Amino acid sequence: MDLAQLTRNLEALRARAVGAAAAAPDTAALDALEVGVLGKKGDLTAILRGIGALPAEDRPKVGAIANEVRTAVEAALHEARSGLGGAELAARLATEALDVTTPGRPIRRGSLHPIIETAREIAEVFAQFGFVVYEGPEIEDDRTNFQMLNIPPDHPARDLWDTLYLDVEGLLLRTHTSPGQIRVMHEERPPIRALLPGRCFRYEAVDASHASEFFQVEGLMVDEGTSMADLKGLLDQFAHAMFGAHRPTRFRPGYYPFTEPSVAFDILCVICDGEKCPACSRTGWMTILGAGMVHPVVLRYGGIDPERYQGFAFGMGVERIANLRHQVADLRLYMEDDLRFLGAFR
Ligand code: DAH
Repeated sequence: MDLAQLTRNLEALRARAVGAAAAAPDTAALDALEVGVLGKKGDLTAILRGIGALPAEDRPKVGAIANEVRTAVEAALHEARSGLGGAELAARLATEALDVTTPGRPIRRGSLHPIIETAREIAEVFAQFGFVVYEGPEIEDDRTNFQMLNIPPDHPARDLWDTLYLDVEGLLLRTHTSPGQIRVMHEERPPIRALLPGRCFRYEAVDASHASEFFQVEGLMVDEGTSMADLKGLLDQFAHAMFGAHRPTRFRPGYYPFTEPSVAFDILCVICDGEKCPACSRTGWMTILGAGMVHPVVLRYGGIDPERYQGFAFGMGVERIANLRHQVADLRLYMEDDLRFLGAFR
């Protein structure tokens, strides 16, 4: 190989590489071209291997041309890169466009179940009067759920509670939180101010207004000289805390075997304010709980001397209280765990 031939080869390489750089479709092609022409095993190196066969005086000439070729190819690569890079950036910006004004995905936060929340609110009101929260078991025995509450076996008052009995003799699912009264009296000495929230069970055909599982809050106060006036004063305070300071209330005679006398406690209808609407069965009033003076027989079952101590008790359905405040039309919603329903109370 002589000088002229080597020079032609170098010029041919320059022309081919510069042309290829200008025509490259993307930067990956330019990278490949660079390696193929200027790399250690590239075309330029291959041509320069022929330099050893030349006479010594010709070698610098070839070296100078080779440097020119290298510089020219590098410049062509650089120019093509900046052109292509701009185009590629523009293409990416077009396809990967990010709308920074799009609202983020909502983060779901947990919240208390409306029934638990209502039960806690009820407990907070009574806590201001010194009532302490206790809990009884959901599986009760017949004696505590009925007999010690002055409801003997075969007593017609048992019809008030449709009971779910367990296979085990004498055990049942508590039909109300009232057996908790007996348990507290066995645990504590007067003065007693106890609040007993809890889940209760009844054998019911479930529909919009009947549930086989529901929550109650029971209250019990036992002390010397406790009277009906104390009960009425306390329940008034409760009604005013839950339904507004000016909500009228009333006592009506009622019947429960474990209290004597027994009352139903009403508030003026929260829907019609006494105008008599379907929500209050056109009476103008809504019953929110049952109450009364603890029957002496019940005190005695609790180990408390009725000659010395008197007590009052009350019991309310938490769903009922929640319904009056949130206007929920179907009891089943409370048990279905539908997040659309539960999320509405936050
Ligand atoms: N245990 C009653 C029920 O389930 C509610 C009740 C009424 C509780 C009067 C009481 C009370 O403590 O004095 O319907």
